Amino acid sequence: MNTTRFHFTTLGLAIIGVTVIGAGCASHRGAEPMAKVPGDGDIGVPATYRSWPAFVPTVDKVEGAQVREIYINPVGLTTQKGEAFPAGTVSVMELYAARKDAAGKLLMNAEGRLIKGPLSKIFVMAKGEGWGARLPAGTVGNGDWVYGAWQADGKTAATSDFSGCRSCHLPMAKTDFVARYDEHFMARMR
Ligand code: HEC
Repeated sequence: MNTTRFHFTTLGLAIIGVTVIGAGCASHRGAEPMAKVPGDGDIGVPATYRSWPAFVPTVDKVEGAQVREIYINPVGLTTQKGEAFPAGTVSVMELYAARKDAAGKLLMNAEGRLIKGPLSKIFVMAKGEGWGARLPAGTVGNGDWVYGAWQADGKTAATSDFSGCRSCHLPMAKTDFVARYDEHFMARMR
């Protein structure tokens, strides 16, 4: 066990403000560093993510009848095009139901964009030094990313099976398993 790394991980999480569910014990705060690297489901919804920069402009999903907002924390924003995201990066994606009319047809605004209805889920992916190597044997590897998926309350787990997340993000290995990587850098150039 590498104590230095755990120190670093604990500190890093404090700085980026991510909540790691069940990874610490309040009564032990300030004592021994926690001896747990987060796995899938341990990454909570960061309290301040709505003040983070938008990762890409709002995504309309006509097929899934959803509107998605994606945020990146300031650590992730330091990434330059062509690089992988550094340890300490957190990405948050909000999934909203798109509004429909009484006949069930998707409503559009004047710009032809979908209209946000209620928030349905919040997906999170975060990475830390060595996290990938700590995942249970048989986990589909996505580098050092680990995942969380929450209901709109930000507290109730939306799933305990993250293999779907991992399998779908796996082919995006070239862009550090991040789907909207290219769009992000295009949006930054504007
Ligand atoms: C069927 C494929 C698929 C599955 C399954 C999937 N994702 Fe994604 N994910 C995407 C795509 C594509 C995007 C880009 C936004 C969009 O087009 O909806 C994305 C975007 C994201 C983002 C924003 C960063 C980025 O990659 O651009 C996060 C965070 C995320 N997904 C987390 C999750 C989590 C957590 C799960 C499982 C609960 C999951 N995803 C399951 C395809 C998938």
